[in-house]
Parts: sequence; C-alpha cells; structure tokens
Amino acid sequence: MLLIKELNKDKVGDKITLAGWLRTKRDSKGGFSFLEINDGSTFTGIQVVADDNLDNYSDIKSLHTGASLKVSGKLVESPGAKQAYELQADNVVIYGNTDQSYLLQKGRINFETLRESAHLRCRTNSIGAVMRVRNVLSKATHDFFQSRHFLNLHTPIITASDCEGAGEMFQVTTLDLDKLPKTDLDKVDYKKDFFGKQTHLTVSGQLNGESYACGMGRIYTFGPTFRAENSNTSRHLSEFWMVEPEAAFFELKENADLARDYLKYCFKSVVENAEEDLKFFDQRIEKGIISKLELLSEAEFTRITYTEAVKILEKSSVKFEFPVKWGIDLQSEHERFLTEKVFKQPVIVTDYPKDIKAFYMKLNDDEKTVRAMDVLCPQIGEIIGGSQREENLDVLLARMKNLEIDPQDYSWYLDLRRYGSVPHSGFGLGFERLVQFCTGMSNIRDVIPFPRTPKNAKF
Ligand code: 4AD
Ligand code: MG
Repeated sequence: MLLIKELNKDKVGDKITLAGWLRTKRDSKGGFSFLEINDGSTFTGIQVVADDNLDNYSDIKSLHTGASLKVSGKLVESPGAKQAYELQADNVVIYGNTDQSYLLQKGRINFETLRESAHLRCRTNSIGAVMRVRNVLSKATHDFFQSRHFLNLHTPIITASDCEGAGEMFQVTTLDLDKLPKTDLDKVDYKKDFFGKQTHLTVSGQLNGESYACGMGRIYTFGPTFRAENSNTSRHLSEFWMVEPEAAFFELKENADLARDYLKYCFKSVVENAEEDLKFFDQRIEKGIISKLELLSEAEFTRITYTEAVKILEKSSVKFEFPVKWGIDLQSEHERFLTEKVFKQPVIVTDYPKDIKAFYMKLNDDEKTVRAMDVLCPQIGEIIGGSQREENLDVLLARMKNLEIDPQDYSWYLDLRRYGSVPHSGFGLGFERLVQFCTGMSNIRDVIPFPRTPKNAKF
C-alpha cells in the first residue's frame, strides 16, 4: 500500500493500492464516478475514477463524504489541473460508509464548530495542514538541537518544585474523594495527597534540565507542560508543549543567538517541507505568510534591552490600554506594537527588572535587572522566555529569601551551585505559539490536536 505523498512520475503506469477517506464524489452520466480521496499524507488528495464495470459500483454510488476506502488500479497522469495523478480503479474495497449525521460534509465549517469535534477535525483541509506543519516543526526541533549536540532529556511531569513561582500549578492527587466517608473529608490534607507528599504537574522542565546541563553540557526537553491559570485567550492553553534547551557555559548572548538560529531553522524547514500546506495558509489564513517565513529565515532579529523598549513605548503617540512605565511587565499590546509597528520583525528583549521575573535569573551588576530574554514575534507576542541562570550560591540564596522561597525545598537545585557551579543559560519556546506563527492560525486551540483550556478538557 502506498501513501498519496509517495506518488511520483516513476509510478505512472503502475498498478498501485491507496486507502483513505472520501472527500467528494461526482457521478457522471456515462456510468462513471469521480471520487476524491485523501489519506492525510498530503494537502491534495487523489482523484479515483470508478466505473460501472466494478462489481460493487452501486455501493460506490451510495458512498457519502467521509467513507473509508481502499482502491487498487492503474496510476495515470491527470488531465485535470487540480492534481497531478489519478487512479483508474479496478477494485474498490469499502471499509465504512457515513450518513447524514456526519458533520464534515456540510461545506466549509468554522473553527469553533470544528473544535466541538476535535476527534474528527483532522480530516479537514485546514486542521490537516496545521498538523503536518506541526510535525515539520517537531522534526525541525529535534534536527536542530541534535545537529548542535544537545542531548534530548526526558524530564518528569509530576514534580515537587515550582519553577516559575507563579502559583499556577495543577495539584496531583491519589485520593478518590468519592470513596472517602463524608465525615472524613475535613481530615484530608489535600495538599499532601501524592502518597503523603505535595506534588503537581510541571510548569516547566527547566530546573531538571539545569541539573543535566550542569553535568552533560547541552540538553533540550520537548514535552507537555501545564499551567493552572484561568487565561482564556487565543494564546493560552492549560496544557501546552514546550521546547527547553539548557546549555552549560552559555551566557545571555549565546542564548539569544541560539534562540534566533533555532527559530530561523524552523521557518526555513516549514518553507522547504510544507510547501503545499503553506500555500493553503497563504491563500486562506494569512496573506503573505510564505514570504514572511522566507524573509525571517534570513533575518537578524532586533535586540534591545527592556529599558530601551520602555523608552520607545513611552515616546510613542499610541495610547496603550495598560500605561507604560519602567517596572511594568510588558503586555501583549506593547509586545505587538514593538514587533508589528516599530521593528516589523521578531525582537529579543533582554535585561528585565528583577521584580517581574523568576528567582533563578542571574542578577545584573545594576542589581535592578536580571539577564532575562524574551523573544517577541509579530501577531504572537512572547514566543520564547529564557535567561542566564544565577550561578552564584549566595546571590541565589539572597534572592530566594527575598521572594520567601524556602531553600530547603530546592536543596538539590542549590547543590548545582555548591558543586562545580558554572555559568549557564536556557530558554523555553511555546511550541503551539510557534505553530501559530508558521501557519497564521489565530487561535491556539486550533494548532494542538486536543486543546485543554479552563473551559474545555473534553476528548
Ligand atoms: O516564559 P515561560 O513561563 O518560561 C518558562 O517556563 C521558563 N522556565 C523557560 C526556560 O527558561 N526554560 O514560558 C515559556 C514559553 C512562553 O514564552 C510562551 O511561548 C509559552 O512558553 N507559554 C505558553 N504557551 C501556551 N499557553 C500558555 N499558558 C503558556 N505559558 C507560557
Ligand atoms: Mg514568560
């Protein structure tokens, strides 16, 4: 059995077998039916020509959109412009038909409605294209970091450490409250319910990543992370995938170079490996996305400090909803202004005020800012957050004290500064935001197979 993606000129004239799902069917008068089937491997399906010499032609005529088929026949060059080849069927096996209740036969359906049928939506052109681009980006991620000798590290999902300190963690429980007598409910320590310990789902693999970077040099993680924040925006998910490289001996500049090179490699990979899907996004979702990605795969990216960014924002004549002054966390309206109006490309903002950043970031000599770096992209805002890490034990302890973080809870992490401490840096890229940027999809819920948000955890 072949995939539609595997067809090429050399196979013209061969007898081949393909299988997939029926997209459209047109019956013509002379005892012919034209079936367009797609197997998910490419954007464009293939046209199958079936005629009334087939034993089951009457069954073929009763097929609905979405029916699953296996077709054998001769591959010929297509006379039509829509596809390169067509298949002249000499055998059609019908696995399963559909009926009138099948959602996807009703013409173009909006993304919101499709979300209600997340289990079927990959059969549409748009979501199919998104998931193929997602796959290209996933492969590009591994290829990029592997080519630079980063070790792929599998960090835990269940953890007792809070990396970001933002209190956005899902607790893990082994308790079945339904089975406890009601009278005992008030005796339960909900906080210590992972076999007597308090744990939660990870918000980031970074701390574990630092441990391996400080021993094996360069690592990256690529896995699901969880945030229990009640954010219902087009750029937030409760469960999202993060790519987190961490490198020993990297300072902030090398970290920013790495982030830029990684993004450029991703853009180039999509242009080179998802041509057909990108054309669809260019026509239907974001006009000009192909040239945008081509251009950015060669771009330098602007670098400014937070202080410079604030000055630019303060000087602008735009009236922001959230007023700008030194010390505020940049809001998405500010990030978009910088990337879309001022620089018109991704911007790397460094050296944020320490009070708005996590405990582990390296303090600058001014003692007011830390060696943080956010990469901001047009339309998306923050796509990457990272920093050089504080490697000095005393400075880190002082910072934790200030933030009322108990050093006992992080004793293993502090050991990395006690024993052979080194300068090191890393960052986290929100994988779905990258997929959004490379497809133009406006809602993050449409670039992950099964989105989890505060309002939806179905499927
Ligand atoms: O800026 P964040 O919170 O950084 C960290 O977690 C660091 N520990 C990373 C590191 O240095 N290793 O998150 C990193 C990125 C953000 O820039 C954003 O792209 C994405 O993760 N992100 C989300 N994506 C979707 N939904 C959410 N709720 C997200 N929160 C963060
Ligand atoms: Mg961040």
